[in-house]
This record gives sequence, structure tokens and C-alpha cells, in this order.
Amino acid sequence: MFEMLDNAISKNESKAEIKELNAILSTQSTQGLKLPSNSIDYAFIDPPFGANIMYSELNALWEGWLGALTDAKAEAIESKAQSKSLNDYRRMMTDGLRNVYEALKPGRWVTIEFSNTQASVWNAIQTSLQEAGFVVANVAALDKQKGSFKAITTTTAVKQDLVISAYKPNGGLEDRFVESGGTEDSVWDFVRTHLGYLPRVKVKGSELEFIAERDPRIIFDRMVAWFVRHNAPVPMSTHEFQAGLVQRFVERDGMVFLPDQVAEYDKKRMQVAIAPQMEMFVSDERSAIDWLTDFLKRRPSTYQEVHTDFISQLGAGWKKHEEKPELAALLEDNFIQYDGTGEVPSQIHSYLSTNHKDLRGLEKNSPALVAKAKDRWYVPDPNKAQDLEKKREKALLKEFDQYRAFTGRRLKEFRLEALRAGFRTAWGSKDYQTIIDIAAKVPDAALQEDEKLLTLYDLALTRTEDGI
Ligand SMILES: C[S@@+](CC[C@H](N)C(=O)[O-])C[C@H]1O[C@@H](n2cnc3c(N)ncnc32)[C@H](O)[C@@H]1O
Repeated sequence: MFEMLDNAISKNESKAEIKELNAILSTQSTQGLKLPSNSIDYAFIDPPFGANIMYSELNALWEGWLGALTDAKAEAIESKAQSKSLNDYRRMMTDGLRNVYEALKPGRWVTIEFSNTQASVWNAIQTSLQEAGFVVANVAALDKQKGSFKAITTTTAVKQDLVISAYKPNGGLEDRFVESGGTEDSVWDFVRTHLGYLPRVKVKGSELEFIAERDPRIIFDRMVAWFVRHNAPVPMSTHEFQAGLVQRFVERDGMVFLPDQVAEYDKKRMQVAIAPQMEMFVSDERSAIDWLTDFLKRRPSTYQEVHTDFISQLGAGWKKHEEKPELAALLEDNFIQYDGTGEVPSQIHSYLSTNHKDLRGLEKNSPALVAKAKDRWYVPDPNKAQDLEKKREKALLKEFDQYRAFTGRRLKEFRLEALRAGFRTAWGSKDYQTIIDIAAKVPDAALQEDEKLLTLYDLALTRTEDGI
């Protein structure tokens, strides 16, 4: 085979077609890649990583000697010398990935491997992948010693290799989506298909690992990205989604499975002593709320009880421009406090009766139980959560209006959640200009490092340029 390749290469210096082997060996820009649609089984990509390495400049000496220079115009890098910004890099990556997507057979996988140095570049790749049509199904560190992907993509993270696995959804899902135009059924169709692609069990040594992609919040984000890419409004709120999810699928240790997947997980779970747990990194208001949700689900607590643990979470990983929220405000806006009147809520009741022998078997209005339950914060049930969500969304949009009215050059501190809510609403009403205007007031790093903001900003730019 190598002899054949050699011959072919010597005949056609950079492009070789080997018909007998049904193989193509080609050296070219991915943006110009033209392979037959739905023709390849798998793609592995080791892409340039932002401004890490200036390939063509570094190779100029060899290339001059060999007489074959790289066409630097198509080189997907971030470079001052080539006047290429991070936005340009992302666009080029998206264009290249679109071609890979087109060439890949439906239902097949792409693996992207790269060294992590900057959260913004990592985010650019993830956004590009999704914009090209792929659905991300797994992100793993090659060196498992150092923690989960969140641990390695925060600003303080050390450099290491990451592997992203994403798939091109099978034709059925895409066709059904186009046909139904993004209804509630399309949400569940997406989730069902997506769950089918996710790993069922992840084992590390003798322990089970938490499969982050099966976390309901991450599934929600993937679903939203899918809808946004199809230019369709998301037909339900986070809480409607969470409520629908538990009705339709099976939950184990905080992870969601298809009914026919769960037996495999259960079998493995019986062999290990400890349930796997999601690693949480509190770096902004959103992750602080997620952390509190997990904490209060396990242990409905008073302000004092949760305060010490909460403060210890607000460490070095906190995002630079993100306003630090007050715990009291977070609790008030997202959770419910039992004030001692009426029956003890079941969330608190079941926690107390499991953990305190003397409180077992008591009625929900027994004075001993009420006294112990009073002032504890707990995670609301879906209906109540929805009311809170609506109220919070309103407050966030009000805050977004303040950013809109801001006349200085750049906002120094803000709430990412308010920006996200504002971008989502503007996107929904096709008000792309607002997204672009506010993006100009936000420090570049904050925008580039946030997947949700970046996706909507990038699409707003494209839509404005296309004159849609
Ligand atoms: C991380 S390196 C890959 C190294 C390779 N795996 C190896 O072991 O030699 C990224 C490569 O992408 C190339 N590259 C840059 N822009 C590209 C584009 N638009 N299309 C295809 N390749 C590109 C760079 O020249 C560089 O060789």
C-alpha cells in the first residue's frame, strides 16, 4: 500500500487519489474539502488551536525549500500578523467542520483532539462543532488524573489534552425536525435520540464515574443548542423540560437513561459501593445555583448551614467580570423556605426522617418535625419552580435593560445570566442588532468564554450579514 501511495504522491504532489483502494490522500484546507455527501464512516481531527502555533510561518523555511507554500489565507488560526481574530478562527473552523459534517454518514462520529490552553478557544471549537450540525456527546481529558472537563477549561486550569466526541444525528431525527418544525415532540425526539448515543457506563478503576452528558441540565443545553441551530424557538421552559424528562425517561444517580439502557447501568452499579457524583465547579451565578440545587436536594438546610459550604465554593475559579451574588438573594430567587406554617414539605420531611431516628414515622404537621424543619431552604417542585423561574427571568431582563442603557465603553461587572436572558429574548424576536450592540459593551473574553452567549452572538452576526 505504501508503495502505491508513494507512486500516487509522486504523480500528483499534494493530492493523491488511489482508486484501487477506494482511498483519498489529500493535503488541503478543510474549508475547501469536497467529499461526496454521507460517504465517510468516521472523522478524526487534530485541529489548530487558536493562537497556539503559527504553522505556516514556522514551516516557511521548509516549504520554501520544498517549493510548496501553505496558502495562509485558509489557515485556521488566530493571528495578529495575519489579521485573524478569534471570531475569524471560529468562522474558519465552522466552515471546515460543515464540510466534514456533510461528508460524514448520518449517525457517525467525529473525534476532535486538542490541547487545552484557553477557555475561549475551547468554547470556539465547541460552538463551531454545534453550528456545523454536530451534537456533542462526550468530553474527556486524556489524562484522567486531573479531573473533569470543567476543571480543565476554567481560566486557572493547567494545560492538557482533551477529546471531544460528537455525532452527526441520523437522518430520521433531522427529517422529523424539519417536518414538525420544532414542536414539543421534537424536544423529546431529540432527547431520545441523544440519549441513545451517550455512554451507558463509565468505569474508572473500581469506581463508577458520573456521565456529565446525562445530567438533565446538560441535556437541556444540548437540546437548546439543537433548536437554536435549526432557528426554532425552544417550546418549553427549563422546568417544563425537567418535569417532562422524569416522566419519560429513567433517572439513576442524577443521570438520565433510556428505559432499555438502564439495566446495564444498574448491573454495574450493584458492584460498586459509592454512587458516582457530578464534580461541581462554582464559577458564576449559574453554577452557583446548580451547586445550591444539588446541596439542598441532598440536605434541605437553613441559611446558616448552607452558608459555610457555599462561601468555600467561591474561590479562585470565579469568572473575572461576573458579579458575585449574595447567598440570600440566590436562595430567595431560586428556592423556597419553609416558614413553619402548614405541613412540612415532603422534600424536608423525607430528609429529616431518613437522618434523624427520633423524627421517623411522624405526621407532617407534628410539632417536633415542624420545629426541626422551620427555616430550611429546599428545592421547589416543578410547578412552583416554574413560577420562580418566570419571576427571575423578568428581573434578569430588567437588568439587561440597564446594560442596554449603559453609555460607557465597556461594562466592567455584570451578570452572565442577565446577558443570557437578554440575548435569548432578543434572538426570539429576531432583534439581532441588540445582541450585537450589547456584545460590543462586554469584555471580549467574557463573551468568547460563554457557550450560550457566543452561539447567539455568532448567529446574530451571520443573520445580519446574510440580511435575514
Ligand atoms: C495540531 S496540528 C495537527 C498535527 C498533526 N496531527 C501531526 O501530528 O502532524 C493542526 C494542523 O492543522 C493545519 N491547518 C491549519 N488550518 C487548516 C485548515 N484550514 N484546513 C486543514 N488543516 C489546517 C495546520 O497546518 C496543522 O498542520
